[in-house]
Amino acid sequence: MFHDMICQISPFRSLVCRSHLHSIHLSKSALSLKTFSTLGNYRAAPEPGGLRKGMDAIKNTIAENFGGKAQGIGTVQFSLDDVPDLTGKVAVITGGSEGIGYGCTHTLLKHNVAKVYILSISDDVVKGAKGAIAKELGEDKANRTTWMKCDISDWWGVKDIADKIIKDTDRLDILINNAGRGIMTYQLTDYGVDRHMAVNHFGHVVLTSNLLPLMKETANKGNIVRISNQASNAHQAAPSDTKFESLDELNRDLGPNGQYGRSKLAVILYTRYFARKVTNAGQPNLLMNATHPGFVSTKMSKEDIFEPFPLGGYAMAYGLEPFKKNQFEGAVPTIFAATSTEESGQYICPPAIPEVGSKLAQDDALADTLMELTWKVLIEKTKSGSVNQGSLLDSMI
Ligand SMILES: NC(=O)c1ccc[n+]([C@@H]2O[C@H](COP(=O)([O-])OP(=O)(O)OC[C@H]3O[C@@H](n4cnc5c(N)ncnc54)[C@H](OP(=O)(O)O)[C@@H]3O)[C@@H](O)[C@H]2O)c1
Repeated sequence: MFHDMICQISPFRSLVCRSHLHSIHLSKSALSLKTFSTLGNYRAAPEPGGLRKGMDAIKNTIAENFGGKAQGIGTVQFSLDDVPDLTGKVAVITGGSEGIGYGCTHTLLKHNVAKVYILSISDDVVKGAKGAIAKELGEDKANRTTWMKCDISDWWGVKDIADKIIKDTDRLDILINNAGRGIMTYQLTDYGVDRHMAVNHFGHVVLTSNLLPLMKETANKGNIVRISNQASNAHQAAPSDTKFESLDELNRDLGPNGQYGRSKLAVILYTRYFARKVTNAGQPNLLMNATHPGFVSTKMSKEDIFEPFPLGGYAMAYGLEPFKKNQFEGAVPTIFAATSTEESGQYICPPAIPEVGSKLAQDDALADTLMELTWKVLIEKTKSGSVNQGSLLDSMI
């Protein structure tokens, strides 16, 4: 069971799938990489430079997913020190008080961002985050954060928060859609929609769409506006027959890995859709990219994993802890996408490597179907509230 889980969980599956050269063997307490293909296979590669390319792919796969010194072997390097000065810029981040999101908030402030709106649920966590920032970066930086309590699965609540942000600031340069429901069991929200899709995909579409007029205005004044969506290599665990054709399909129980993986597939497809429909359709300064943070030590990988796997969770939470990235290392691709990239529609792995993603993740027709269904479900599920509150979205983009 644990082996299955580990192969489903993104980094490991990716490691096996991408290189076809390694398998991962887990002993009781340690993880070892065993090469069972040979350099001979590379020598037989028809293209010139095949050996080097193959070795680079292996190095990058290891650097993308694991923490510590492993990151230094990648062929592309980008670090949080490479972030440009962000003076005057305004950012919004979901889940910005904890884990990878905290790593992002801290980094943006360190590089002088003018204001960060943090959207999350827990008051205590945000107080702790603000205290840590005051201690490390000073009161001035801590006072540049504004916390807005927001459950991303409550779509009317998300619209309300977006409206408040629009009233409070006249520019928005960075939107980081980071909050997420991790590898957990199947649940439905109050709207009757699979909670993974409701939080990881739908809620962030509502937020982005409602903030879009402000981001367009900021971009049209000559600024580059960057949106970064937190995806995962676990998108490969989405079932191969995923069609995004109906709510009934979304509300099937696929198990924790399938449920999570499908929602992250949706994040990548939305990103590609946005690049086609916005960036490449007259808004070249408005960029959206998706990211994979690697295998990161956070509440999600240390605590939440026990919810679906009460026993197997121990291996993930403790056995693999030495191989995980810390929250700052995990923040690197998001920060690259949020502050530095000039591209749109990419799936960026650590530290700043564009990857193609799974076959489904590259399917533009599937992205169109997903977004048609997204629009339909959002309108249908929120129509009773629209009598008093207007429409949830003006358009899909
Ligand atoms: N850790 C990994 O190895 C890994 C790998 C691939 C992808 N990711 C992705 O990275 C992102 C960040 O995860 P993490 O590992 O940093 O986890 P984390 O430490 O558990 O942080 C999750 C954050 O999201 C917020 N959040 C969760 N559900 C929310 C909701 N319904 N509404 C508003 N905020 C919500 C939490 O806020 P509260 O504390 O207030 O609840 C918290 O700030 C997620 O999208 C995750 O899927 C993580």
